[in-house]
Amino acid sequence: MNSITSALDAAELMSGLDIRAVSLALSGANIESFNTNGQIAVTGRGREITQEDIARVHEAARAVSISMDREILHVIPRSYTVDDQKGIRNPLHMTGVRLECGVHIITGSVSTVQNMFKCVTRAGYRMEQSYLGILGCARTVLTEDERDLGCLLIDIGGGTTDFMIFSESEPVFTSAVPAGGSQITGDISIMLSIPIDAAERLKKESGAAWSDAIDPDETVIVPGFGAREPVELERRKLVSIVQPRVEEIFEMVNEQIIKNGLKDLIKAGVILTGGSALLPHIDECARSVFGVPVRIGAPSVVSGLDAEYRSPAFSAVVGVALLEAERTGASTEPSGGRKKARKSRQGGFSLIRWIKERFF
Ligand SMILES: Nc1ncnc2c1ncn2[C@@H]1O[C@H](COP(=O)(O)OP(=O)(O)O)[C@@H](O)[C@H]1O
Ligand SMILES: [Mg+2]
Repeated sequence: MNSITSALDAAELMSGLDIRAVSLALSGANIESFNTNGQIAVTGRGREITQEDIARVHEAARAVSISMDREILHVIPRSYTVDDQKGIRNPLHMTGVRLECGVHIITGSVSTVQNMFKCVTRAGYRMEQSYLGILGCARTVLTEDERDLGCLLIDIGGGTTDFMIFSESEPVFTSAVPAGGSQITGDISIMLSIPIDAAERLKKESGAAWSDAIDPDETVIVPGFGAREPVELERRKLVSIVQPRVEEIFEMVNEQIIKNGLKDLIKAGVILTGGSALLPHIDECARSVFGVPVRIGAPSVVSGLDAEYRSPAFSAVVGVALLEAERTGASTEPSGGRKKARKSRQGGFSLIRWIKERFF
């Protein structure tokens, strides 16, 4: 609750606005996913599929039994089948007797979601909607080609690393491992016997995830504290603390993917995002573990978004704001469509303007 209050106080100070409502980007080690189907009979006039039929088939698909301690976070339609015609993206107005929908369901632990909800409301804000942060990342970081060809998106944050596989533009698998940047900082703190905040600073200033890329002559200063003087250390030594932990995180992700038989789906490679994706040479480390091409992903260009926020650290937040804009019907295209958007910058969707309208 304190973190929420201080983050929102800072946001109010920076924007000069009064914040009332919050949408969350969740992440967590307790994320699980599965794919399932729902089916309904189309009964309306002329057997034309309506918006209500689509809502009904989504309901049917989510009517699965999950354990008491889990909660459905997202039901993402993958594709539809109308009678025997498979692979339909949007069945609205099609004619058929039977409508089937394949969905990707993401669940989280009830207590985590409820605790976040409590934190937001106790801090005095209205809770709008919660999203799994990696869905925001997918929204703003991935290209259509990557989703279509098949890719692995990894959001490597503070305490957790969430990941998601897309294939043929559909989400196939979502999961997480309970480690991220905080564990790297913890390792530095223990190995160099320095406080956590000094370790965090050292990691951000001089850390890296691939020691072969570091000049053996380069040195860093490990800050002193108390009676201890600052000491000079080869940067490679610092990197040799960071690299094994990053490798371990990627190996845990890779294990889950191999165990579920999904490795062959990753044809367009790995896209790394989240705050810890800022570690220099983390792409080389990922390439060595996954054996496929790797790129670092940051939020795509959205009008009204300062360059400073086009960093991997902001992918989830920017993407979730876009998803929420779409959910609430704010157009992400100007009224004239894409072509006009290119011509007239003022007509385009402004994330900042939308946030102001919605939350203040
Ligand atoms: N420049 C940087 N170099 C290395 N790590 C960084 C850098 N900037 C942020 N981080 C790390 O990113 C992590 C936070 O990632 P972020 O995606 O913002 O968190 P969250 O888990 O809340 O989504 C922290 O562990 C932080 O140390
Ligand atoms: Mg993050």
